[in-house]
Amino acid sequence: MDSTEINKGMAAVLVAGIAFFLAGWIGVNLVHQTKPEHEILKIEGAASHEAAAEPAKAEPLAPVGPLLAAADVASGDSLAKKQCASCHTFNEGGKAGVGPNLYGVVGTGRAQAAGFNYSAAIKGKPGSWSFEDLNAWIAKPAAFAPGTRMTYQGLKSPQQRADLIVYLRSLSAKPVPLP
Ligand code: HEC
Repeated sequence: MDSTEINKGMAAVLVAGIAFFLAGWIGVNLVHQTKPEHEILKIEGAASHEAAAEPAKAEPLAPVGPLLAAADVASGDSLAKKQCASCHTFNEGGKAGVGPNLYGVVGTGRAQAAGFNYSAAIKGKPGSWSFEDLNAWIAKPAAFAPGTRMTYQGLKSPQQRADLIVYLRSLSAKPVPLP
């Protein structure tokens, strides 16, 4: 190896070093330049997120009342067998399962079944099981009473909820009058 070869080698190392530092410097500057941009994006993102989430959260369910008069008890009965009977019984004096017996639940206070170990989420929820409360509950139990033990994901169809509610209403010697 002669000295020119060694010089070439050293030059190469030097160029590589300079390139390395330049790349680093450019990189750092790029990051610095994009940082504020990112923060702007984040703020915009967060703001639009809240704006999008808020109406969704506040958006009230359409009232079920107007659907009840024409709702179908038989369809509600079969829905209850499919969607609810794995956890609930519906006959008078029926045993609790994973969930409490639901005979006569419409119009009663929360946590109506004697001896059932309800969550604080249900016991602490003020009011009684009105048609509209049942509508919200069946639509999304976890939203109506956060922390509830009813791990049912919810029933989307307003018509099906109305059918279920008139079925629940029928489970009484003296059904609550329809609105
Ligand atoms: C996976 C089991 C499960 C399913 C499925 C289920 N529930 Fe429940 N349900 C529960 C449990 C557990 C509770 C008690 C909740 C608590 O204590 O937080 C409950 C509570 C209730 C209550 C309140 C009763 C009271 O005494 O206050 C109603 C009403 C109710 N369920 C209706 C329904 C209907 C209608 C369906 C079908 C659409 C259904 N549930 C499906 C487990 C279930």
